Amino acid sequence: MKQPLTAMALALAAALPAAAQPGVEVLHWWTAGGEAAALGLLKSNLEKQGIRWNDMPVAGGGGEAAMTAVRARVTSGNPPTAVQMLGFDILDWGRQGVVANLDDLAAREGWDKSVPAQVQKFSRHQGHWIAAPVNIHSTNWIWANRQVLERAGVAGEPASFDEFIAAAEKVRQAGFVAIAHGGQPWQEAIVFDSVALSTGGAGYYRRAFIEHDPQAIRSPTTRKVFQRMAQIRQLVDKDFSGRDWNVASGMVISGQAGFQIMGDWAKGEFLNAGKRPGQDFACYRFPGTQGMVSFSTDQFVMFRLEDAGKAAAQRKLASAIMEPGFQAAFNRVKGSAPARTDVPDTGFDDCGKKAIRDVAEAAGGNGMLGSIALGHATSASVKNAIYDVVTRHFNGQLDDARAVAELAAALAD
Ligand code: BGC
Repeated sequence: MKQPLTAMALALAAALPAAAQPGVEVLHWWTAGGEAAALGLLKSNLEKQGIRWNDMPVAGGGGEAAMTAVRARVTSGNPPTAVQMLGFDILDWGRQGVVANLDDLAAREGWDKSVPAQVQKFSRHQGHWIAAPVNIHSTNWIWANRQVLERAGVAGEPASFDEFIAAAEKVRQAGFVAIAHGGQPWQEAIVFDSVALSTGGAGYYRRAFIEHDPQAIRSPTTRKVFQRMAQIRQLVDKDFSGRDWNVASGMVISGQAGFQIMGDWAKGEFLNAGKRPGQDFACYRFPGTQGMVSFSTDQFVMFRLEDAGKAAAQRKLASAIMEPGFQAAFNRVKGSAPARTDVPDTGFDDCGKKAIRDVAEAAGGNGMLGSIALGHATSASVKNAIYDVVTRHFNGQLDDARAVAELAAALAD
């Protein structure tokens, strides 16, 4: 018969060396200030439950380096407890048969009912829950420094792509960097998400980038998308190449630049620098994309673990991620909307409230579209082929017509 733990046994357990406590090894790429602040909430939450947190950061927005690191760990038969992952990468790991099954936890905690179908699509493999979604980010945002805009004589929110370009021109003429951009393929693809959505609307975006309809890809709309990418290219500074996304956010935060086109993790950087939405900075949807959300959801994929103690700690981690109170606290800091629709927007700032509203509207209609840049529209290999075309065009190595042709080849299944 099981005996209740005595005070002595409890004291002994508390005195165990750290290595003997149940722990979780979490691999992620949240290394920027705002990201680390958000992740710190999860870490302390688990540590309060007596679960040791073994942090495995692999820097690189977009997560490419992190994905290489996971592969090495899993192939050597030693997977981490949980790995931050995006879109089609999650489904790929599901197919490898190395992930845990979280169905009973999901059923007990009602995940099915609270997570939108578009997000669940990436949390489940053959119907089974394999990942815990922590947020819904979207890429079609613009972040602006209000003081810079004022000094450049830009009033209000640009209502169209052309108005945005005109506003950025004014910012440049006033002596600022117009658009702070980080010249890395995934960041160019983030801009492409917005420009494609704005130029062709939800129907075009879906047909071209999710369904790979050759007619949509080869249409004049795609040509126009590239023309517009080239207009944006004219408005970035000469040192953009290789710049990290958070360094670009820093240029807007410090008043060196007017705008950044970036997903809503950028807001985490503004908040972390003590800036206030509405007063110091503005957030708005990329002109022409209101009602649509090019979304990406960070999920923690749970790998199958043989050790019972580790597996138990893993389930506590999954449960902690899905807890509504945690989702509220985390996403207020991270800049995203919660992955659960039953989390009230209380305590979120205006940008956060807008993110939640926009996701609800898009998810209820036709406007919730997977981000091309962040692997929610196509498999990783097609995504990389798109990156290649978009980046070469952005860097002047392909003209618009050639870019359309190469994109069509990249998307031909
Ligand atoms: C992730 C975000 C992260 C961003 C920059 C994206 O891929 O989804 O959570 O903040 O990369 O690191």
